[in-house]
Amino acid sequence: MLENIRLSREGGSIIILDQTRLPGEVSYLELKTREELFDAIRLLKVRGAPAIGIAAAYGYYLCAATDKDQPDFFRSMDDAERYLASARPTAVNLTWALARMRGCLKRNALLPREELVAELKREAVAIHEEDIANNLKISEYGLALLHEGDGVLTHCNAGPLATSHYGTALGPMLLAAERGVKIRVFADETRPLMQGARITAFELMQAGVDVTLICDNMAAAVMKSGKVNAVFVGADRVCRNGDAANKIGTLGLAVLAKHYGIPFYMFAPLSTLDMDTPTGSGVRIEQRDPDEVTELYFKQRIAPEDVKVYNPAFDVVDHELITGLVTEAGIITAPFEENFEKVLGKYKNAEL
Ligand code: MRU
Repeated sequence: MLENIRLSREGGSIIILDQTRLPGEVSYLELKTREELFDAIRLLKVRGAPAIGIAAAYGYYLCAATDKDQPDFFRSMDDAERYLASARPTAVNLTWALARMRGCLKRNALLPREELVAELKREAVAIHEEDIANNLKISEYGLALLHEGDGVLTHCNAGPLATSHYGTALGPMLLAAERGVKIRVFADETRPLMQGARITAFELMQAGVDVTLICDNMAAAVMKSGKVNAVFVGADRVCRNGDAANKIGTLGLAVLAKHYGIPFYMFAPLSTLDMDTPTGSGVRIEQRDPDEVTELYFKQRIAPEDVKVYNPAFDVVDHELITGLVTEAGIITAPFEENFEKVLGKYKNAEL
């Protein structure tokens, strides 16, 4: 598995794998300023809900290290949080990670500045390490849903590069390969930015998983053929009632899965749960540059000049279509609100 995000050895910059260059080129970028990090998140050089949370946590620490001697340090940290949070609006992990960093800042506000900055570095590393541990648990719960010979359909990319290690929806597939369980994966290419073709196919092939790439408009036919036993996808924000935002195209897959009687599982760490947003209608859907639709992944024009374009990056799956949400605390099923509260209550008590 390739490493996607880390702090440089001396801690003064963030090193990320540039995911826009995959699969042709494995190249790393060194980000030294908040503006560079903002652009990297905005342009999907680092992407995937948990991964942008981890990158933002390191970014928050870097801002503190840079601004620590400023007289208006705490105000400039609030500005840094707002700025980084505005890079992408839909994935809750971005604001979740920044809010957690702010909590660490507030708890340690009276420490000498150097020590405060060291605490923030520790918190960012903890967010990263917890994500690795959570992914492994999520992957184990997901693997328990699979049987030898199963076909699984996935969309976009919820693998190691979208998180920290193993990934969420791809984790069970990677564990299956490690343990010699033979499954077959159908990966949607995921228009317009091709995360499925460029990243999911790449990650699964590297791990020796039997993966077949399909265009998004082929999913219905593949499901109808009886080759798909389950749909596994990630999530960017799960609302209190269970409605869940993920990459545009996920909603259509959920509707199709219901029609063909195929279980539809979404995968996410509990940090993707947004209990402050009651239903999917409250989720802000990121609208992206029309060029992503009219140009062939920024290489060649494929649509008439000046054509009107609609380019939402995400859609929201209605909770009635979700068989279960696979988390590090187990698989949560309907009634979602009641069961989310139970799981979150248990987790909070366990942490006390
Ligand atoms: O726009 P992207 O590539 O960041 O979208 C990613 C997804 O939709 C993933 O499924 C989601 O973030 C979960 S990643 C574990």
